[in-house]
Amino acid sequence: MNLHVTKEANIEHSSLFEPLRIGAMTLPNRIFMAPLTRSRSVAPEHTQTPLHAIYYAQRASAGLIISEATQISAQGQGYAWTPGIFTDAQVESWKPVTDAIHKAGGHVFSQLWHVGAVSHNVFQPDGKAPVSSSVWTPQGQAFVGDYHPNGPLVPHPEARALTKHEIKEIIEDYQHAAKNALRAGFDGIEFHAANGYLIDQFLRDSVNKRTDEYGGSIENRLRLLNEVVDALLQVVPASKIGVRLTPMGGAGGSYDSNPEAVYTAAVKALTGRGLAYLHVVRPNTHGGGGDDAAFAHRIMAQMKAAFDGPFIANGEFSAEEAAEWVAGGKADAISFGRSFLANPDLPARIAANGPYNEPRRETFYGGTAVGYTDYPTLDVNN
Ligand SMILES: Cc1cc2nc3c(=O)[nH]c(=O)nc-3n(C[C@H](O)[C@H](O)[C@H](O)COP(=O)(O)O)c2cc1C
Repeated sequence: MNLHVTKEANIEHSSLFEPLRIGAMTLPNRIFMAPLTRSRSVAPEHTQTPLHAIYYAQRASAGLIISEATQISAQGQGYAWTPGIFTDAQVESWKPVTDAIHKAGGHVFSQLWHVGAVSHNVFQPDGKAPVSSSVWTPQGQAFVGDYHPNGPLVPHPEARALTKHEIKEIIEDYQHAAKNALRAGFDGIEFHAANGYLIDQFLRDSVNKRTDEYGGSIENRLRLLNEVVDALLQVVPASKIGVRLTPMGGAGGSYDSNPEAVYTAAVKALTGRGLAYLHVVRPNTHGGGGDDAAFAHRIMAQMKAAFDGPFIANGEFSAEEAAEWVAGGKADAISFGRSFLANPDLPARIAANGPYNEPRRETFYGGTAVGYTDYPTLDVNN
């Protein structure tokens, strides 16, 4: 894979090193660590380990770390060995992680996750079918690891449609998880409304076929997003709540017939509420949406213009393009996924114009310290 983060002499990156204020935090740079699922939590409780503290503390020079996606309930899980934040044991296991980040001078938000249909019965309470806005079978395969005898990858089963009562329970689960995240020492939470998971399964008309107030018009499809944000605002200060959206692509193959209309409306619904930031994955070959650069540009500009707070862009950014976007006012910060995974000291490397480690895909999900905490820093390379 091509990181696009190339070593070039005399590249001007200073815009990325302007401090950024979010709520009460003054972040030292605009190079954020994007949320990265690494599937290294441990059974039976889906808790974090001392290795997680090392991994995140290594990356504490990020302007802001956004944690790996973390399920708000057992129902919200869709991948093997992902962490939760709904039990006391999970909260306790996160405390050394947030502590280690803070001791290393960093800041971290917890990404709160419900996968909806992108799951499998093996993760679900009582082995029930996964849930979604409507009856729907996601494309692709569920990463079930050793939870299933035919693992690690098996087809997704058909999801069932949530009842209105169950929707209310999910909103409460978000609230409970958000309170837990603050208890666990996170500086805030990122509401994961992106990448084809539960919230997208309500927003997008390829999945949402409901005929009640949660389906049909864009206003109705936005209802769950809005209700979760309202619920989060009751328990967490607005300045500690970020939201992630992806207008195109994501797990399961869902899409909307008019993403510009839906996602601009989503941003309008999020604006005026004092939220910490909006974090958008741009349409691209990785995030979905293909190679239509003009479309990607237009929808990002529309979403930025519709939001009244810090705007974080993500998706296949090179250091050079990131610096250009921030300098040109197209984003307030850029989050890096695979580059941060492979380069724990990414800001220092950007400042020095590289060199950069290449990410090793085979160790992305699951396993040990290998491919997790063993990527060298620049001083080791030199
Ligand atoms: C290994 C891996 C795990 C990811 N896990 C998450 C996740 O937990 N939550 C999320 O919103 N996005 C997740 N993503 C998407 C990234 O946050 C990011 O949007 C994507 O990698 C594109 O950014 P990049 O080109 O800088 O890597 C993941 C991507 C990768 C490669």
